Amino acid sequence: MSDDTIYARRPELYDAIYSFKDYRAEVIRLAELLGSLGIAPGSRVLEAGCGTGNHLVHLRHIYSASGFDLNPGMARIASEKAPNASVFAADMTAFTVDPPVDAILSLFSSIGYLLDEAALRAAAQSFAAAIRPGGALIVEPWLTREAWVEGRPHMATYDRPDLKLARVNISGREGDHSVMAMHWLVGRPGEPVEHFVEHHRLWMCPRPTMLRAFADAGFDVRFEPDGLLKDRGLFLGVRR
Ligand SMILES: C[S@@+](CC[C@H](N)C(=O)[O-])C[C@H]1O[C@@H](n2cnc3c(N)ncnc32)[C@H](O)[C@@H]1O
Repeated sequence: MSDDTIYARRPELYDAIYSFKDYRAEVIRLAELLGSLGIAPGSRVLEAGCGTGNHLVHLRHIYSASGFDLNPGMARIASEKAPNASVFAADMTAFTVDPPVDAILSLFSSIGYLLDEAALRAAAQSFAAAIRPGGALIVEPWLTREAWVEGRPHMATYDRPDLKLARVNISGREGDHSVMAMHWLVGRPGEPVEHFVEHHRLWMCPRPTMLRAFADAGFDVRFEPDGLLKDRGLFLGVRR
Protein backbone atom coordinates (compact mmCIF):
# COMPACT_ATOMS: atom_id res chain seq x y z
CA MET A 1 0.00 0.00 0.00
CA SER A 2 1.32 3.48 -0.80
CA ASP A 3 2.07 5.79 2.12
CA ASP A 4 -1.20 7.59 2.93
CA THR A 5 -0.09 8.77 6.41
CA ILE A 6 -0.42 12.41 7.39
CA TYR A 7 3.41 12.47 7.45
CA ALA A 8 3.36 11.97 3.67
CA ARG A 9 0.03 13.61 2.75
CA ARG A 10 -1.09 16.09 5.43
CA PRO A 11 1.93 17.18 7.52
CA GLU A 12 0.16 20.48 8.36
CA LEU A 13 -2.23 18.54 10.67
CA TYR A 14 0.53 16.90 12.75
CA ASP A 15 1.16 19.66 15.30
CA ALA A 16 -2.54 20.17 15.99
CA ILE A 17 -3.36 16.51 16.68
CA TYR A 18 -0.28 16.14 18.93
CA SER A 19 -0.70 19.52 20.66
CA PHE A 20 -1.24 17.67 23.97
CA LYS A 21 2.42 16.56 24.00
CA ASP A 22 4.82 18.53 26.23
CA TYR A 23 7.92 18.57 24.00
CA ARG A 24 9.68 21.14 26.21
CA ALA A 25 9.46 18.85 29.26
CA GLU A 26 10.68 15.93 27.12
CA VAL A 27 13.75 17.91 26.04
CA ILE A 28 14.54 18.76 29.67
CA ARG A 29 14.48 15.02 30.48
CA LEU A 30 16.52 14.21 27.36
CA ALA A 31 19.17 16.80 28.29
CA GLU A 32 19.44 15.18 31.73
CA LEU A 33 19.92 11.75 30.12
CA LEU A 34 22.38 13.07 27.52
CA GLY A 35 24.37 14.65 30.37
CA SER A 36 24.47 11.29 32.16
CA LEU A 37 25.88 9.79 28.94
CA GLY A 38 28.63 12.43 28.78
CA ILE A 39 27.02 14.74 26.19
CA ALA A 40 27.46 18.38 27.27
CA PRO A 41 25.54 21.50 26.17
CA GLY A 42 26.89 22.77 22.86
CA SER A 43 27.41 19.22 21.51
CA ARG A 44 26.26 18.21 18.02
CA VAL A 45 22.94 16.40 18.41
CA LEU A 46 21.06 14.92 15.43
CA GLU A 47 17.42 13.80 15.56
CA ALA A 48 16.47 10.94 13.23
CA GLY A 49 12.77 10.99 12.27
CA CYS A 50 12.38 14.53 13.62
CA GLY A 51 8.87 15.02 12.22
CA THR A 52 7.84 18.68 12.31
CA GLY A 53 10.75 19.59 14.60
CA ASN A 54 8.95 19.86 17.94
CA HIS A 55 11.98 18.58 19.84
CA LEU A 56 14.42 20.52 17.62
CA VAL A 57 12.83 23.88 18.51
CA HIS A 58 13.92 23.26 22.13
CA LEU A 59 17.08 21.22 21.50
CA ARG A 60 18.58 24.06 19.42
CA HIS A 61 18.73 26.27 22.52
CA ILE A 62 21.00 23.75 24.27
CA TYR A 63 22.88 21.95 21.49
CA SER A 64 24.08 22.42 17.95
CA ALA A 65 20.96 20.62 16.74
CA SER A 66 20.09 19.10 13.39
CA GLY A 67 17.51 16.61 12.18
CA PHE A 68 16.08 14.66 9.32
CA ASP A 69 12.84 12.95 8.38
CA LEU A 70 11.81 10.48 5.71
CA ASN A 71 9.00 12.75 4.57
CA PRO A 72 10.10 16.04 2.96
CA GLY A 73 6.85 17.79 4.00
CA MET A 74 7.57 17.08 7.68
CA ALA A 75 11.22 18.15 7.27
CA ARG A 76 10.12 21.38 5.56
CA ILE A 77 7.90 22.33 8.53
CA ALA A 78 10.75 21.46 10.93
CA SER A 79 13.20 23.69 9.07
CA GLU A 80 10.70 26.58 9.12
CA LYS A 81 10.17 26.19 12.88
CA ALA A 82 13.86 25.72 13.74
CA PRO A 83 15.62 27.94 11.21
CA ASN A 84 19.05 27.70 12.86
CA ALA A 85 18.98 23.87 12.85
CA SER A 86 20.00 22.05 9.70
CA VAL A 87 17.10 19.81 8.61
CA PHE A 88 17.05 17.46 5.64
CA ALA A 89 15.04 14.58 4.20
CA ALA A 90 16.59 11.12 4.63
CA ASP A 91 15.79 7.52 5.59
CA MET A 92 17.21 6.40 8.93
CA THR A 93 18.09 3.00 7.44
CA ALA A 94 20.46 4.61 4.91
CA PHE A 95 21.80 8.04 5.81
CA THR A 96 25.25 9.47 6.35
CA VAL A 97 26.57 12.58 8.11
CA ASP A 98 30.08 13.92 7.87
CA PRO A 99 31.70 14.53 10.30
CA PRO A 100 30.03 12.18 12.81
CA VAL A 101 27.90 13.83 15.52
CA ASP A 102 28.14 13.58 19.32
CA ALA A 103 24.67 12.10 19.75
CA ILE A 104 21.64 10.84 17.86
CA LEU A 105 18.08 10.86 19.17
CA SER A 106 15.14 9.06 17.62
CA LEU A 107 11.90 9.88 19.44
CA PHE A 108 8.15 9.22 19.64
CA SER A 109 8.51 5.79 18.05
CA SER A 110 9.79 6.87 14.64
CA ILE A 111 11.85 3.67 14.72
CA GLY A 112 8.63 1.62 14.97
CA TYR A 113 8.03 2.31 11.29
CA LEU A 114 10.93 -0.03 10.50
CA LEU A 115 8.98 -3.23 9.99
CA ASP A 116 11.54 -6.00 10.38
CA GLU A 117 14.90 -6.89 11.86
CA ALA A 118 16.79 -6.20 8.62
CA ALA A 119 15.54 -2.60 8.57
CA LEU A 120 16.24 -2.17 12.28
CA ARG A 121 19.80 -3.46 11.85
CA ALA A 122 20.36 -1.16 8.86
CA ALA A 123 19.29 1.82 11.01
CA ALA A 124 21.50 0.70 13.91
CA GLN A 125 24.48 0.48 11.50
CA SER A 126 23.72 3.94 10.09
CA PHE A 127 23.46 5.38 13.62
CA ALA A 128 26.78 3.77 14.58
CA ALA A 129 28.54 5.19 11.51
CA ALA A 130 27.11 8.66 12.21
CA ILE A 131 28.17 8.88 15.90
CA ARG A 132 31.76 9.45 17.06
CA PRO A 133 33.31 6.89 19.44
CA GLY A 134 32.13 7.76 22.96
CA GLY A 135 29.03 9.49 21.56
CA ALA A 136 25.48 8.67 22.61
CA LEU A 137 22.27 7.21 21.18
CA ILE A 138 18.77 7.63 22.64
CA VAL A 139 15.90 5.77 20.97
CA GLU A 140 12.27 5.89 22.07
CA PRO A 141 10.70 2.69 20.72
CA TRP A 142 7.14 1.75 19.78
CA LEU A 143 5.08 -0.35 22.20
CA THR A 144 5.80 -4.03 22.70
CA ARG A 145 3.26 -6.84 22.24
CA GLU A 146 2.71 -6.95 26.03
CA ALA A 147 1.53 -3.32 26.11
CA TRP A 148 -0.63 -3.47 22.95
CA VAL A 149 -4.36 -3.91 23.58
CA GLU A 150 -6.10 -5.13 20.45
CA GLY A 151 -9.58 -3.92 19.55
CA ARG A 152 -9.52 -0.83 21.75
CA PRO A 153 -11.10 2.36 20.37
CA HIS A 154 -8.97 5.53 20.53
CA MET A 155 -9.83 9.14 19.89
CA ALA A 156 -7.75 12.32 19.63
CA THR A 157 -9.30 15.74 19.13
CA TYR A 158 -8.30 19.33 18.56
CA ASP A 159 -10.72 22.19 19.11
CA ARG A 160 -9.93 25.77 18.08
CA PRO A 161 -12.25 28.30 16.36
CA ASP A 162 -10.46 27.96 13.00
CA LEU A 163 -9.80 24.20 13.06
CA LYS A 164 -11.62 21.18 14.54
CA LEU A 165 -10.11 17.71 14.33
CA ALA A 166 -11.38 14.31 15.43
CA ARG A 167 -9.27 11.21 14.77
CA VAL A 168 -10.69 7.80 15.69
CA ASN A 169 -9.24 4.32 15.31
CA ILE A 170 -9.54 0.81 16.68
CA SER A 171 -6.18 -0.73 17.57
CA GLY A 172 -5.47 -3.67 15.29
CA ARG A 173 -2.75 -6.30 15.02
CA GLU A 174 -1.32 -8.49 12.28
CA GLY A 175 1.31 -10.81 13.78
CA ASP A 176 3.79 -8.57 15.56
CA HIS A 177 2.69 -5.45 13.69
CA SER A 178 0.34 -2.85 15.14
CA VAL A 179 -2.08 -1.76 12.42
CA MET A 180 -4.22 1.35 12.66
CA ALA A 181 -6.71 2.86 10.24
CA MET A 182 -7.14 6.42 11.49
CA HIS A 183 -10.43 8.07 10.48
CA TRP A 184 -10.18 11.85 10.45
CA LEU A 185 -12.84 14.56 10.43
CA VAL A 186 -11.51 18.03 9.64
CA GLY A 187 -13.64 21.15 10.07
CA ARG A 188 -12.61 24.59 8.87
CA PRO A 189 -14.71 27.80 8.73
CA GLY A 190 -16.88 28.04 5.61
CA GLU A 191 -15.84 24.62 4.24
CA PRO A 192 -17.59 21.23 4.12
CA VAL A 193 -16.37 18.74 6.74
CA GLU A 194 -13.58 16.62 5.27
CA HIS A 195 -13.23 12.89 6.00
CA PHE A 196 -10.17 10.83 5.16
CA VAL A 197 -8.49 7.66 6.36
CA GLU A 198 -4.77 7.08 6.86
CA HIS A 199 -3.08 3.76 7.66
CA HIS A 200 -0.22 3.13 10.07
CA ARG A 201 1.76 -0.04 10.55
CA LEU A 202 4.47 -0.31 13.22
CA TRP A 203 6.57 -3.24 14.40
CA MET A 204 6.23 -4.22 18.05
CA CYS A 205 9.87 -5.15 18.24
CA PRO A 206 10.78 -7.25 21.31
CA ARG A 207 13.22 -5.40 23.60
CA PRO A 208 15.93 -8.11 23.40
CA THR A 209 15.87 -7.84 19.57
CA MET A 210 16.33 -4.06 19.77
CA LEU A 211 19.13 -4.40 22.34
CA ARG A 212 20.92 -6.99 20.19
CA ALA A 213 20.68 -4.85 17.04
CA PHE A 214 22.29 -1.85 18.76
CA ALA A 215 24.92 -3.96 20.55
CA ASP A 216 25.90 -5.71 17.30
CA ALA A 217 26.18 -2.30 15.55
CA GLY A 218 28.73 -1.11 18.14
CA PHE A 219 26.85 0.34 21.12
CA ASP A 220 26.96 -0.43 24.83
CA VAL A 221 23.22 -0.26 25.33
CA ARG A 222 20.58 -0.61 28.04
CA PHE A 223 16.83 -0.15 28.36
CA GLU A 224 15.63 2.70 30.63
CA PRO A 225 11.98 2.15 31.63
CA ASP A 226 11.60 5.70 33.03
CA GLY A 227 11.43 7.41 29.64
CA LEU A 228 9.23 10.10 28.15
CA LEU A 229 5.87 8.37 27.60
CA LYS A 230 4.08 5.59 29.50
CA ASP A 231 4.95 2.05 28.39
CA ARG A 232 7.65 3.06 25.86
CA GLY A 233 10.86 3.65 27.80
CA LEU A 234 14.13 4.51 26.08
CA PHE A 235 17.16 2.66 24.76
CA LEU A 236 20.33 4.43 25.87
CA GLY A 237 23.56 3.63 24.04
CA VAL A 238 27.19 4.71 24.04
CA ARG A 239 29.21 4.19 20.85
CA ARG A 240 32.19 1.92 21.56
C1 LIG B 1 5.21 9.77 15.26
S1 LIG B 1 6.21 10.73 14.19
C2 LIG B 1 7.44 11.35 15.33
C3 LIG B 1 8.05 12.65 14.88
C4 LIG B 1 8.89 13.36 15.95
N1 LIG B 1 10.01 12.55 16.36
C5 LIG B 1 8.07 13.76 17.15
O1 LIG B 1 8.43 13.41 18.26
O2 LIG B 1 7.08 14.50 16.97
C6 LIG B 1 7.12 9.54 13.27
C7 LIG B 1 8.03 10.17 12.23
O3 LIG B 1 8.93 9.19 11.74
C8 LIG B 1 9.19 9.47 10.38
N2 LIG B 1 9.78 8.26 9.77
C9 LIG B 1 9.17 7.07 9.54
N3 LIG B 1 10.05 6.20 8.98
C10 LIG B 1 11.23 6.87 8.87
C11 LIG B 1 12.51 6.52 8.35
N4 LIG B 1 12.73 5.30 7.83
N5 LIG B 1 13.50 7.43 8.38
C12 LIG B 1 13.27 8.68 8.88
N6 LIG B 1 12.07 9.08 9.38
C13 LIG B 1 11.05 8.18 9.37
C14 LIG B 1 7.83 9.88 9.84
O4 LIG B 1 7.91 10.57 8.61
C15 LIG B 1 7.32 10.73 11.00
O5 LIG B 1 7.66 12.09 10.83
